[in-house]
Amino acid sequence: RKIAVFASGSGSNFESIANAIQVKQLNAEISLLVCDNPKAYVIQRAKQQQIPAFIFSPKDYENKEAFETRILDKLEEYQVDFIVLAGYMRLIGSTLLSAYSKRIVNIHPSLLPSFPGKDAIGQAFQAGVKVTGVTVHFVDEGMDTGPIIAQKAVDVRNGDTRDTLQARIQEVEHRLFPAVLQELLQKQLMEGLQECLSER
Ligand code: GRF
Repeated sequence: RKIAVFASGSGSNFESIANAIQVKQLNAEISLLVCDNPKAYVIQRAKQQQIPAFIFSPKDYENKEAFETRILDKLEEYQVDFIVLAGYMRLIGSTLLSAYSKRIVNIHPSLLPSFPGKDAIGQAFQAGVKVTGVTVHFVDEGMDTGPIIAQKAVDVRNGDTRDTLQARIQEVEHRLFPAVLQELLQKQLMEGLQECLSER
């Protein structure tokens, strides 16, 4: 399966997905990185792995529809059939949502619906919760609101700082995301096959 990873920052999740593909834990190919921040470190990671990237600045476009239409062209060029958001700091608009309906997933560093939006780890830390975690969910038009696919809890330990908590959450993300993607892509493949057979 050809996937595109959308990211805006460091790209540690991008790398964990690429690594899972390399060791054949994940049966897919990252055909394209889509990045809305020309300074993001994820671009270096894609270069190292020789993965093509579409890098853009939203400010160069009139509006979201304009840059999403351009992204859509790229996704078609690379024959992408599944979109993975891994630290993409932007809401997906109707252009991409309608083209990739039920084929866009996101990872979020909290147990949704708690702590949606920016700095979920900081929000959890501030709130003083004893358990937080990671959620993988389908993407809809809302902010971290789509149907939940998988969750993993992470304990907040005595003496944790925001940074130590973040490090443990990210470790969990790096294991959970590739595993969930493998299951999901496999399931979709089976469903597609069944549809194909029943049409005969
Ligand atoms: C992750 O914590 C992810 O859950 C959130 O953004 C962060 C991205 O980190 N959506 P990285 O760029 O993959 O290192």
